Amino acid sequence: MEKVIINFNGSKSEILIGTSWESVSELIQESGVAIVTDSNVQRLYGEKFPDFPVLTIRPGEASKKLEVIEFLAERLIETGIDRTGFLLGIGGGVVCDITGFLASIYLRGIRCAFVSTSLLSQVDASIGGKNGVNLGSTKNVLGSFSQPEFVICDPVMLQTLPEDEYFSGLAELIKTAIIGNEKLFGLIENNYSGISKRDPDLLTMLESMAVNFKTAVVSEDEKESGLRRVLNFGHTYGHAIELYKSFRHGYAVASGMELAAAFSCSRGYLSKPEYDRIIGLLKTFKLLRRHDLPDTQLKQLILRDKKRSGNDIYFVFAQGIGKAVVEKIAVDEVVDFYRKNKSVQ
Ligand SMILES: NC(=O)c1ccc[n+]([C@@H]2O[C@H](COP(=O)([O-])OP(=O)(O)OC[C@H]3O[C@@H](n4cnc5c(N)ncnc54)[C@H](O)[C@@H]3O)[C@@H](O)[C@H]2O)c1
Repeated sequence: MEKVIINFNGSKSEILIGTSWESVSELIQESGVAIVTDSNVQRLYGEKFPDFPVLTIRPGEASKKLEVIEFLAERLIETGIDRTGFLLGIGGGVVCDITGFLASIYLRGIRCAFVSTSLLSQVDASIGGKNGVNLGSTKNVLGSFSQPEFVICDPVMLQTLPEDEYFSGLAELIKTAIIGNEKLFGLIENNYSGISKRDPDLLTMLESMAVNFKTAVVSEDEKESGLRRVLNFGHTYGHAIELYKSFRHGYAVASGMELAAAFSCSRGYLSKPEYDRIIGLLKTFKLLRRHDLPDTQLKQLILRDKKRSGNDIYFVFAQGIGKAVVEKIAVDEVVDFYRKNKSVQ
């Protein structure tokens, strides 16, 4: 078990990796708690939830919208949750994003925590205090920064995760290794079998490394004005691919990382052998899928990216393996590189 603590302006958030999720009752107050979950997670784990009212949403991205926040807030009022109340989200990134946002605005803010149940949320979505919902097809446009009091990441729960969801989460773990930890990259390379079998002890170790990196970044830049941008490695092309092809996030990011790695190579940030290692790892876990994104649509899709600033964008380059550098470049440059190098897919 590993505990990582994030401190923000006097408030503390604890990430507990490898802790059994069933110990959550010991960490929450005795009354005034409501649980938010989705119907898949409830079906699999609901019987063992602590004995509090459970508000269940439909699984998936479509639930990340204001209507669902309103629906849940109404249920909280009916349940009698007041300012002393506590929201516990038990689920993947969607449940954590919704729970965190709802807790930050309900009665101007109540306490909350997460049991993070997908690989993507254990290594990324539930860590760092960003939350929110989508508006139409624009992702995460309404939200807030607020930290859960604790997050339990129990890799045993990943045994029930559908294969595509698991490997989609793995792409974010690989991203973290590329931008922040070469040792983690090597461990992923050398543990194909344990990762494929979802060995909880191995995952506890790998997740701890990823969470330590993300918390270090987030602690320095809670509101994404600088360093935190490195976390978007692969996401500029990745988001465009996700919008175009509706791939699961991690698969879109994997294709985005393939392109970003090639771009990093062309800028001299990454050597050819390092590039080959990155592509080799993405291929080993079958993360690269054909997307056929037309270059004519890329600019329009990138212009919808929140990380853009006018006609420029903060693009993240891999600087070797284990380090990243961010450059503000013209969106046209990103599009041009794609036009000339589409064949890397
Ligand atoms: N706030 C952030 O910093 C941040 C960062 C990255 C991603 N995100 C968000 O996270 C979301 C994606 O998260 P996700 O991939 O976890 O999606 P998700 O929450 O939709 O979960 C994926 C699927 O797996 C199911 N599931 C979850 N845990 C399970 C388990 N243990 N066993 C079986 N099934 C399980 C869910 O019901 C769902 O069908 C996106 O909305 C994205 O925007 C947020």
